Amino acid sequence: MAILPVVTYDDPVLRKPAEPVDPDHPGLGKFIDDLFETMYEASGVGLAAPQVGVSLKLFVVDADAITEDEEEDSFGPGVFINPEIEVVDPEKWDAEEGCLSLPDIREKVARPETIRIRYQDRDFNTHEEEHSGWYARVLQHEYDHLRGVLFIDYLGAFRKRLIRKKLEEVRLGKAQTEYQLAPKNSGTDEKE
Ligand code: NI
Repeated sequence: MAILPVVTYDDPVLRKPAEPVDPDHPGLGKFIDDLFETMYEASGVGLAAPQVGVSLKLFVVDADAITEDEEEDSFGPGVFINPEIEVVDPEKWDAEEGCLSLPDIREKVARPETIRIRYQDRDFNTHEEEHSGWYARVLQHEYDHLRGVLFIDYLGAFRKRLIRKKLEEVRLGKAQTEYQLAPKNSGTDEKE
C-alpha cells in the first residue's frame, strides 16, 4: 500500500464532476487500499478519489470515530463506488466540518438529516441504504467531492470572508499538516 499526497481546494480536479468507475478499472483494488491508508494516516473520516488527484466516482469512509453515540448509526470502513444520493428528510441541521483538502479550516455546514444512498461496493455489488445523522453527513460531504462541491461553498459571504486568509495560505502551500499534501506547481502561478 502507499500513502498518496492530498490535493488542496484550489486544485481544478476538486471542481469537476468525477468519472464513473468501471469494474475492470486497472489497479482499482490497490487504489482503494491506498485511499484507506491515506485516510487513516491523515486521521480523516472520509476520503474521495479526487482528493488524491484521481477523478473517479469513488470514496472511502470510516466514521466509527465520530459516531460513537449509540443512538447513531455506527459504521466502520466502507467503499462507495458510483454513489447516488437522494435526500429523504430535507430538514437541515448544522455541524462543524473539516476536510483534508482544506487544512486548518472548520466551519458549520447545514445538511439534510436523512439521505438514501445507492452505490456499489468494491466487488461491484449494488446496495441501497438509508442513513441519518453524522453518518449521513459524512456521506454527503464525500459525495459532494465527486461533483466538484466543497463544504466552503455552503458558507455565507461573511464566513467566507473570515476564512479568506487561511484559504490563501493553503493555496500558496503554506498550510502546516501532519499528512502529505501534493506539491504546488511552482513557476506556473496563475494571477487572480
Ligand atoms: Ni472533504
